[in-house]
Amino acid sequence: MARYILINDKLNNFDKKITVSSDKSISIRTILLASQAIGVTKITNLLESEDVLNTLKTIKKLGINFKKIGKTYKIFGYGLNGFNLKSNITLDAGNSGTLARLILGLLVKSKYKVKLIGDNSLSKRDFSRVIKPLKLFGVNINSKKNILPIEILGTDYLRPIIYDENIGSAQVKSCLILAAINTPGTTVINSKISRNHTELMLKSLKYPIKVEKKKNLEIISIKGLFQFEAFNYNVPGDISSAAFYIVLTLLGKKSKITIENVNINKSRLGVITILNKMGAGIKLKNKRIYNGEEISNLYVSSKKNLKPINCPPKLNSSAIDEFLIIFLVAARAKGISRFKDLGEMNKKESKRLDLAVQFLELIGVKVERSNNDINIYGNPDLKLSGKYEIKNFLKDHRVFFLSCIAALTLGGKWKINDKDSIKTSNPNFLKTLKMIGAKFN
Ligand code: S3P
Repeated sequence: MARYILINDKLNNFDKKITVSSDKSISIRTILLASQAIGVTKITNLLESEDVLNTLKTIKKLGINFKKIGKTYKIFGYGLNGFNLKSNITLDAGNSGTLARLILGLLVKSKYKVKLIGDNSLSKRDFSRVIKPLKLFGVNINSKKNILPIEILGTDYLRPIIYDENIGSAQVKSCLILAAINTPGTTVINSKISRNHTELMLKSLKYPIKVEKKKNLEIISIKGLFQFEAFNYNVPGDISSAAFYIVLTLLGKKSKITIENVNINKSRLGVITILNKMGAGIKLKNKRIYNGEEISNLYVSSKKNLKPINCPPKLNSSAIDEFLIIFLVAARAKGISRFKDLGEMNKKESKRLDLAVQFLELIGVKVERSNNDINIYGNPDLKLSGKYEIKNFLKDHRVFFLSCIAALTLGGKWKINDKDSIKTSNPNFLKTLKMIGAKFN
């Protein structure tokens, strides 16, 4: 099977109603929390992508069984730290930074040494951000250069910590919350704001976790060692996947799309806020609350006169996975868009800020980069007719999605490599594009 796709045609008008892949962050968290609950958790609409399947494999290796019956995943938990470890195990987190960082939080009491590895992309990413605070809990955790492989050996003498999480990373925050639920006493995390699915899920399970807002921080207090019961969870759609269809529609010709049942948690809503500031007019209707998460249907139509944005850095964390596709919109806006402090983009599955600059230059868009700030010179008449090949992007799924949307909205003849990367987060991506009317080989 070819590992690339060829796109030679722009997409025609469409008017469609779709659902998108289930939320990846929530899918991973439901499994990890189910592994700590007492009894049988039932999860429906779980994202069946590689990152999530690796999460299931991981808990299985740690002695927690699961079964898929019809569309429901059942996970059989034995309560907090109910893992049944064998000696000398190796866990493979594949491409998933979320799995790798969060699972370390649940291994703070492991009786045996556990080795954690990942794929080529994950093996280049920084783990000092979790190694440093985990050591403060009293855990033995070692790695040669703060990258994978990591070895962790738990302890029975854990102590709660007070920690300033100042990156604004939900992976770091969640790793520490999971360590805290296994630790006696109260752990306090002074956290720069980031996605809060772990906190909401624990609250909905009546777990004693408290979150107080203080200026730009959230002070999160977690009491350790409270057992909680198994639960039922139906995972909503992923706004990070929806973002690509939103931009496909926005930059398309006289098209419309309704995307049903999408998670619109405020800590994830940056892409909508930013695009609406640019004149996208995306509407959120039929809002409802589910287990503390806000869900809604999204309505998008094509727009011709998009405005540039001076993007407030306080929105960065809530759109961190969406900037690649937001930049494409900036490339079609009338004027110069400015984005600041995006260093975290270079800490993702690939160095996304570097790749974004290369990508925009490849399609003839003027970009100014100064450290972690970029200015994009937009042009509402941007149309492509050349040949473009996208390769060497460390199989980063979001770079693949971006390239497909650029090809389908701007034109040109495209060869986009590493098609399999879609399996990481959005395995139905190409099927959905086809359903909308896209042609590719
Ligand atoms: C995620 C948090 C974000 C995001 C990633 C998923 C999560 O990473 O980029 O795709 O599920 O917690 P950081 O926490 O490192 O910013």
